[in-house]
Amino acid sequence: MYFGNSYKNFPVFYDLLYQRYLKSAHDFTAMVKENTPQGGLILDLAAGTGEVTIPLLKSCFGVISLDSSKGMLKELKLKAKKLGVKNYHTVTRDMRKINYKDKFDTVCIRQAINYFMGPKALESGLKKIIVSLKIGGKFVFNAPNYRGEKTYPEVSNYYESGKEKSFVLETNKILGKILRHKQYSIIWGGGLKPNFVSDENSFYMFTKKEFGHALKNCGFSKVKFSGPAKTLYCTATK
Ligand SMILES: C[S@@+](CC[C@H](N)C(=O)[O-])C[C@H]1O[C@@H](n2cnc3c(N)ncnc32)[C@H](O)[C@@H]1O
Repeated sequence: MYFGNSYKNFPVFYDLLYQRYLKSAHDFTAMVKENTPQGGLILDLAAGTGEVTIPLLKSCFGVISLDSSKGMLKELKLKAKKLGVKNYHTVTRDMRKINYKDKFDTVCIRQAINYFMGPKALESGLKKIIVSLKIGGKFVFNAPNYRGEKTYPEVSNYYESGKEKSFVLETNKILGKILRHKQYSIIWGGGLKPNFVSDENSFYMFTKKEFGHALKNCGFSKVKFSGPAKTLYCTATK
């Protein structure tokens, strides 16, 4: 049995258990490419197992992939090697503590900006991000669009990744602006012994208005939102 947080305790199962998060990687990566000069340098914050990093490297961008979980970055490196992608560069660090200056053409965060756990933490992170960008550099992120407290239905899914299989029951509870996500899964197949995995995470839910306000307060301009009603895609310029 596995209990805790997948990023820290069992990153090896992340791609199997979170396939619903992997779906939108293509659109997000396309947006990062469109906003970055060819061959430019990108900081992929909370890079995870490399769903954004690896296609960017394949398209000949320079990428620094930063994540607080050494295990997730290990999975990124294994995946890159399997795909014959060599020029990866990983940094194990908390994204709240980055310390770069005028270095990147683009900074991106996919499915992780909500780990800034509140408006103060968000602004503090955005200030570090804007300092790390070159003048005219772009910040690209996506996030759920918080549209008020509502009930989140339980969702179950069956996934396959190669010969490995999982059945995942996802539950979400919102307390104020904190979303507590728990999922209970059975994994089996391939090299896996049948096993039970219980995984949990908490995020802070921001509205579009809150993101827009924080970006402007931190000095970003040309803030543009797009995407379907449930998800925000945003680009902002230094
Ligand atoms: C949902 S995954 C997204 C991974 C990747 N961006 C993607 O699109 O596939 C969230 C990632 O955020 C990382 N993370 C969470 N809090 C973090 C923090 N404070 N600093 C850096 N990484 C963090 C986790 O370790 C995990 O790899």
